[in-house]
Amino acid sequence: MTNQRAVITGAGQGTGRAIARRLAQAGVHCVLVGRTASKLQDVAAEIAADGGEASVQALDLTDDAAVADLGAALAGRTVDILVNCAGDWLISLMEDTSNDQLDHILRVNLRAPYILTRTLLPNLRRSDNASIINIGSLVTAISVPSVSAYTATKVGLKGLTGSLAAELKSERIRVVMISPGPADTPMRAAASPGIDKALLVQPETIADMVYAVASLPRGITTSDCVLYSMAWE
Ligand SMILES: NC(=O)c1ccc[n+]([C@@H]2O[C@H](COP(=O)([O-])OP(=O)(O)OC[C@H]3O[C@@H](n4cnc5c(N)ncnc54)[C@H](OP(=O)(O)O)[C@@H]3O)[C@@H](O)[C@H]2O)c1
Repeated sequence: MTNQRAVITGAGQGTGRAIARRLAQAGVHCVLVGRTASKLQDVAAEIAADGGEASVQALDLTDDAAVADLGAALAGRTVDILVNCAGDWLISLMEDTSNDQLDHILRVNLRAPYILTRTLLPNLRRSDNASIINIGSLVTAISVPSVSAYTATKVGLKGLTGSLAAELKSERIRVVMISPGPADTPMRAAASPGIDKALLVQPETIADMVYAVASLPRGITTSDCVLYSMAWE
């Protein structure tokens, strides 16, 4: 995958960091996107120390002007892999969830991947084997309480993934959702402090799945990869 370029959102920590490190290990130049520049710079330094290449684009993906600037910065360049990984979480009963919380989670988890993907479509079309990979969640397959707003965003992202896959099939651009169960990341540590690690998927495992999908030969795709620990009852 040498000479390929990937844009990975949420690359400053957790799953996005692991995905960037895995793709960089395979020779992919990684554009690291996230809110906090210092976290992205740390990941870029880790990648450089491993002999890989990365550049940093710090922005808030809910800021349309900032996303347009990212598109302008990449204009005319090929993007082979887009990984929409950045996301936020919300554990809250519906009756306790405010309109602002609902709007925020929809903007980060659903609207932002939509707009970034649309922005980078010209770049992805320049690749002869492009992948758009959206990070979903096990909640798209199993319904659990207290995450109705979060679930709505991820099920929405699943619908977006399927429809866009159909839309881009004739151009041989694959669009795939990878849906992990609870994963061993800062998000999970904040959401479920003290959770038994046996119940968690390691971010490196999710990254291996991203690498496997992006390595598929031109014209071949897969759909809905769900990854979870068998330690769940
Ligand atoms: N952890 C789990 O148990 C789990 C399970 C299933 C699915 N997922 C999904 O996996 C993805 C990655 O989760 P994770 O566990 O790795 O989360 P994480 O550790 O919280 O990392 C999320 C990253 O997204 C970035 N981000 C959030 N909002 C952003 C915004 N508005 N603009 C730009 N960047 C933004 C954050 O950047 P800053 O740090 O700079 O704010 C952070 O680096 C998410 O889509 C999540 O829903 C997670």
